[in-house]
Amino acid sequence: MTDAHQVLVSASILNADFSRLDRVVHKMERAGVDRLHLDVMDGSFVDNITFGPDIVAAFRRLTDLPLDVHLMITEPARYMDRFIAAEPQTITFHVETREPHERKTEAIEAIHAAGQGAGLAVSPDTPVSAVDPWLSELDVIMIMSVYPGWGGQGFIPEAAPKIAEARARLAAAGRGGLVHVDGGVNSKTAEIVGSHGIDVCIVGSALFQRGQDASDEVDLVKEHALRGYSATTATAR
Ligand code: DX5
Ligand code: ZN
Repeated sequence: MTDAHQVLVSASILNADFSRLDRVVHKMERAGVDRLHLDVMDGSFVDNITFGPDIVAAFRRLTDLPLDVHLMITEPARYMDRFIAAEPQTITFHVETREPHERKTEAIEAIHAAGQGAGLAVSPDTPVSAVDPWLSELDVIMIMSVYPGWGGQGFIPEAAPKIAEARARLAAAGRGGLVHVDGGVNSKTAEIVGSHGIDVCIVGSALFQRGQDASDEVDLVKEHALRGYSATTATAR
């Protein structure tokens, strides 16, 4: 019997050379990534500042790859219309942000009204159940396997079981949402996230190591994640 489970790679460009984003994008296209992951940080929700909607729009002009925006900002609902206007495929914001419940609901509705996918991200200390009020509206649950803010951190293994929890919740919701895992994912940690049924591996610094072939890393991440998935499903049978 063939197993239909797929693992995709979304490239986080946080640790890329920002002086040549056109080259970065074309390098990722050649490496065979499935999507691009754009980390927006405001220096308030996290202690780092990256870029805003204009740069997301610039990526839109540079590539036809699907764009996943990951908002690590204190007031995602306040800025949502500007990110929607940049036309990414998905926009994910953190469930821990302090904007009221209804503002989060409105932000998700606005994303959907534009025909884009909506996601909620959960930081390492947040239980997956925090997304439950919005479950039937979610196209993405993003499990953070590092504390948000910086690329190149080590994978937190305790976060991995949350992937399976998120997957079960999305399956029950029946909307076809996907689980993304973000932080410290590379060819060495892919088997762990695969064993918990990951759909989308977000890979950052591992794709931008000097002297390393990014397309080999993309292939290895997928291969190892699928190996982890098969091992778990074989045990479960
Ligand atoms: C961390 C970011 C991640 C990160 C991934 O706050 O959201 O997307 O850049 O990079 P690596 O793979 O280096 O952890
Ligand atoms: Zn991210």
